Amino acid sequence: MFSMEYGEIHEMIRQTARDFAREEVAPSVIERDINGEFPREIVAKMGELGFLGMMVPEEWGGSGLDCVSYVIAMEEISKVDASVGVIMSVNNSLVCWGLETYGTDEQKERFLRPLASGQKLGAFCLSEPEAGSDATQQHTTAEFRDGMWYLSGMKNWITNGTSADTYIVFAQTDREKRHKGITCFIIDRHTPGFEPGKKEDKLGIRSSDTCSIGLTNVAVPPENILGEAGRGFNIAMESLNGGRIGIASQALGIAQGAYEAALRYSKERKAFGRPIAELQAIQMKLADMSMKIEAARLLILKAATLKDKHETFIKEAAQAKLFASKIAVEVALEAVQVHGGYGYVREYQVERMLRDAKITEIYEGTSEIQRIVIARELLKAL
Ligand code: CAA
Repeated sequence: MFSMEYGEIHEMIRQTARDFAREEVAPSVIERDINGEFPREIVAKMGELGFLGMMVPEEWGGSGLDCVSYVIAMEEISKVDASVGVIMSVNNSLVCWGLETYGTDEQKERFLRPLASGQKLGAFCLSEPEAGSDATQQHTTAEFRDGMWYLSGMKNWITNGTSADTYIVFAQTDREKRHKGITCFIIDRHTPGFEPGKKEDKLGIRSSDTCSIGLTNVAVPPENILGEAGRGFNIAMESLNGGRIGIASQALGIAQGAYEAALRYSKERKAFGRPIAELQAIQMKLADMSMKIEAARLLILKAATLKDKHETFIKEAAQAKLFASKIAVEVALEAVQVHGGYGYVREYQVERMLRDAKITEIYEGTSEIQRIVIARELLKAL
């Protein structure tokens, strides 16, 4: 039977993240969205507060908290700015987790400590122009010559792509072995031949930076291989299981932010002689929005709790992401509707939340991929 613990520490994390989001993230959110400006100072402050390595043990520079704490902080921050949410999610789930789980002590000292303490930022490079959902089809190659690995290829859709310092990069080291020939490398941004491209001009999460990365004979020493050679694809998949809990929480934050905006607005806006919150047409919407949000939150807390208990959570993470991303789009759309014409202009923020919500159905595994993951887990259990 599933049971979870939600204690004082979790409430404290929620309050800290909420205060931080209100005081530091909210004031410039519209401007950053318009200009597609990376929130460099905000990210630095998140590092100081311990939000960038939340689940990393303190001995390696992290906050030593559980996954439930992480999803709470992710929700609070994404409620105000989903762009900041994804920066945080990628660093925590896709970068720090792999280094902590598979890194040697020397790799943890060199790479994990600065990433978990927020001195450096990380990125995760799996997707390629021809390897998105079908992630086993890696075209980036790594060849071993004279004691070094040389990586060449192209990575796509890389969150934190132009701003990161440390990159987790997957490459084919033995094509014959297909996905069992994929290896994971840790690459410093300043390595010659490693070239982040220009930032993508996106529909949403506009202040998070996304770009392609070209690799031309990038020389990487063998000590920068993460985990065993040939086990890279498994590391990517396991990282993404946790990543999906992070993105689900980002989606939940967007939905909660849009719902709160709609609720506030409905109490202020008058039509037919009274606040629109008194009209059943609006009440029906608010009731449905709040129910969907609560259901998403419970799915996320279940997945996070299983992860904290070191139990399998692949299906639950995929369910949480699939559902939370779906309701984020629905709730944000309804929030725009509740606002009427005002919902269509920037100042009221819900139009941004709608634009931001869409990506949660696409990255870290599309909704279609989540259904495949869920179905496979269901069939395995038979
Ligand atoms: N957890 C752990 N291991 C998994 C796994 C999971 N969820 N899914 C697959 N694996 C393992 C399998 O057990 C298998 O391992 P072995 O060979 O050692 O037994 C191996 O991976 C290959 O699995 P499959 O044979 O099932 O591979 P497939 O090609 O049929 O399907 C897939 C795999 C589920 C479709 C997978 O390719 C997938 O998840 N695709 C989506 C990729 C994705 O999420 N990309 C997002 C990129 S990151 C991002 O968005 C960027 C960002 O910055 C935010």
